[in-house]
Amino acid sequence: MIIGEQGISKSVECLRGGGVVGLPTETVYGLAGDAWNPLAIARIFEAKDRPLTDPLIVHLPEAGWLERVVRFSSLEQRKMVERLATAFWPGPLTVLLPKHPDLPELVTAGSDYVAVRVTSHPLFQEVIHRLGSPVAAPSANRFGRISPTSAEDVRLELGDKIPLILDGGSCKHGMESTIVALDGESLEILRPGPITKERLNEFGHVGTARKIVNTPGSLPGHYAPRKKLRIIETDIKGFAAEADSGYLAFTTPDPEMRERFSAIEVLSPSGDLCEAAANFYGALRRLDNSKVDILYADPLPEEGMGVAIMDRLRRASHGSNHGSGHHD
Ligand code: TXA
Ligand code: MG
Repeated sequence: MIIGEQGISKSVECLRGGGVVGLPTETVYGLAGDAWNPLAIARIFEAKDRPLTDPLIVHLPEAGWLERVVRFSSLEQRKMVERLATAFWPGPLTVLLPKHPDLPELVTAGSDYVAVRVTSHPLFQEVIHRLGSPVAAPSANRFGRISPTSAEDVRLELGDKIPLILDGGSCKHGMESTIVALDGESLEILRPGPITKERLNEFGHVGTARKIVNTPGSLPGHYAPRKKLRIIETDIKGFAAEADSGYLAFTTPDPEMRERFSAIEVLSPSGDLCEAAANFYGALRRLDNSKVDILYADPLPEEGMGVAIMDRLRRASHGSNHGSGHHD
């Protein structure tokens, strides 16, 4: 792990040589490689053990770089992206757009669409600027596992697979970017995230049902801990935890609830959904590494950032919630 100015120059050097680097973003840590270097892209897939059919997000340091990786299909599309860019970039919004024909196929897994975002993280921006090339980066976890929100998390996930991790402290949002596809005047949310449906509403009709573009990575069993994870969906009073259980609580639990668990993580004592999101993956990882046998999680209110957290929680619990029938 490496920090500061030396960290930036070492990261650029590594990327320039076709290597991969664990880097901080404002959402989660990414595993970065030069988007124009197919060998670097292949190394990302290999380190994560990710299927080659699952495309990568391309990161830019500023919206002015868009046409290096995108080819707009119409003036309307360009205008819509400009409006979104003004409102949300740099920041946690990823937009699916027609890909530049020269961008390596491996990045988009053969799709004609590329997912792009402009990161607001100053270290990552600086690295991309100095490299002078767009950077492809998925979350820096092994495929299907818990996303990393600190450099130490990246070390635990991929430390033995990658040469360098740039330490930029913990991630501001703690939740992956919102992914949208555009269809004329409407937007489709493919993955909920920090930019909420409410905030996107003023840019056009926001749908979730139609599939303008397929997202291969949106599997039901994703973000998974090793341990079984169940969302507490029954009446809390009638709920009985088995011996040695861990509890992912939304707010500070009452003493009666506390004594049923041998490990507890509180996402936000005051019930703030943004704070809960920032703590989510770290808390899940600590419980997964604790001595308990099974994990239980509070459901969170599905509004604002709560939509993204519940999306991840359902996927993380996929296969563990027998009988609850509520995951997708
Ligand atoms: O916040 C984020 O988005 C983080 C940071 C590192 O930028 N990145 C991230 O990447 O979450 P990843 O690979 O873990 O998730 C990206 C999702 C996957 O489900 C992938 O299938 C989808 O976006 N995706 C990427 N490119 C796509 C494309 N061209 N077409 C459809 N889906 C795409
Ligand atoms: Mg991921």
